[in-house]
Amino acid sequence: MQISRMSNPFGVAAYGLDLSKDMSPEVMRELIAALHEHQILIIEQQHLSNAEYVKFGYFWGRPLAFMNTSDTRDDFPEMIKIDNRASTPARYRDGAVHWHSDSTYEEVPAAVTMLYGIEAPEIGGETMIASTANAYDALSAEMKGKIDSMVALHCLGGSPELPGEKIPFNPETTARLGIVKHPLVMQHPVTGRKALFTSGTAFGVEGIEREAGRELIAELRAHATKPEFISKVKIRKGDIFLWDNFQTLHTATPIEYSDEDGKRRLLYRISTKGLPDLCQKQAAA
Ligand SMILES: [Fe+2]
Repeated sequence: MQISRMSNPFGVAAYGLDLSKDMSPEVMRELIAALHEHQILIIEQQHLSNAEYVKFGYFWGRPLAFMNTSDTRDDFPEMIKIDNRASTPARYRDGAVHWHSDSTYEEVPAAVTMLYGIEAPEIGGETMIASTANAYDALSAEMKGKIDSMVALHCLGGSPELPGEKIPFNPETTARLGIVKHPLVMQHPVTGRKALFTSGTAFGVEGIEREAGRELIAELRAHATKPEFISKVKIRKGDIFLWDNFQTLHTATPIEYSDEDGKRRLLYRISTKGLPDLCQKQAAA
């Protein structure tokens, strides 16, 4: 296996690896360390069965249950299908076109998300990833001092939108899930590196006036999504693309909804919570 830097501002690609033959602890430790250090990781050219992909998913933490169970695979509830079928109702189209990290409206947000490319369109369908760790590093010492111990308030659809965004808002789900709190500056549970934690669910800051908190979130989101902090990734058939939700924001880009050859996209998503077992064993050793 070789791991090399992407041409993007950050991130690495692993190649020369066949996960269907080798998911040994040594290989998995190397991949986990690469993701934690570089924030995004592509593992190229894989040929995994559903069972093998789910097994791979369990190496990264505890796979989460998805809110919308209609899209999960009956045989593997850990996986959710993401596709661009022409029959997709308008209200569900481009629902991930806003800067966010996953499941931040829950008490325990997703740590890692992975997408396995089953079909990829010839044109479009890129995912954009912003490094909130690099964005934090670039803040002034004064701003870091101001925000380091702040706590942000989150609810589904809560955040101020940035230009071009459409943050989905679902009043019933928001009422059910309520408001949860997360540090505004997240320290990575394994590396300790600091990063802004300003998902599309953050709408305020504990202890400061509502509008001032909203403005601060908007300012930090705009900072973190400047072009110099963004990597753009096209997931090809056979690629597994992973991101670290504690150090990044991501957004889909608008895609054409079509059943035609060359335009279809099918991705299998798994998101995990908690630390990988291999990291916990390392920490305990
Ligand atoms: Fe997402």
